[in-house]
Amino acid sequence: MSYTERLPRNRTYLMCPPEHFTVEYAINPWMDTTVTVDAGLALKQWEQLRTTLTGLGHVVHVLDPEPGLPDMVYSANGAFSVDGTVYGARFKYPQRTAEAVAHQAFYLAAESWKFVAPEQVNEGEGDFAYLPGAYGGIVLAGYGFRTDPAAHAEAQEVLGRPVISLRLVDPAFYHLDTALAALDDRHVTYYPGAFSPASQRVLAQLFPDAVLADREDAEAFGLNLVSDGRHVILNTEAVAMGHKVREAGYLPVHVDLSELKRGGGSVKCAVAELRA
Ligand code: ARG
Repeated sequence: MSYTERLPRNRTYLMCPPEHFTVEYAINPWMDTTVTVDAGLALKQWEQLRTTLTGLGHVVHVLDPEPGLPDMVYSANGAFSVDGTVYGARFKYPQRTAEAVAHQAFYLAAESWKFVAPEQVNEGEGDFAYLPGAYGGIVLAGYGFRTDPAAHAEAQEVLGRPVISLRLVDPAFYHLDTALAALDDRHVTYYPGAFSPASQRVLAQLFPDAVLADREDAEAFGLNLVSDGRHVILNTEAVAMGHKVREAGYLPVHVDLSELKRGGGSVKCAVAELRA
């Protein structure tokens, strides 16, 4: 794997600035409502992530943040798009319900998207990943904490791609994107311990050449990365993970997202990919 040249592909992303970011409720084990977040720092770090992506030649659309939706900065959760079709999100917790509406409005405003509203609970790219170059194009989908497995079948009907269900078993890694990431169109990296033994077997069968991460990498949110196929953007804490992706032939680019970790997210959570 390390001898292949890793070529980037230009991407289009959707981000939402953490203008109203706080930790005022706790819906995952990382959130501690007794700690105050530095809103100014959060915004500065977010801006750094945005300019890193645009600096690499990618297009970043910005969604207007709304007061009262402190988790809206985690834009990955708002929908999941594949080849111009958008499968909308339906959040598990009422505190985030209204975010889905804002994302839906974004897609409906541009006529090019085919938006499909979901019936089943699902948290968008938090629990769905797309590998266009693996097996003709497959979706990996997580369940166990947020997304209802019934949403996996619904996504398959909406998107017309095989959806592989993977069971998450560790509450610290409650979304698929905290435990697994696409490094390019057909390669993934993941932390096996976040998945049930059967799901680990499925991943090993589908991706025998995956970059395997350990618990420390996952706890540093090193798997919560965004890759353009060459540059792998991950947070500064994930030093060991940076080495692992470099060994696999990618170029790690570190950004500090310490404040967003207080809400239980990092790079990938803050970036939704728009696949037109
Ligand atoms: N506080 C948010 C929640 O618990 C964090 C979401 C992180 N997003 C992600 N794609 N993993 O819902």
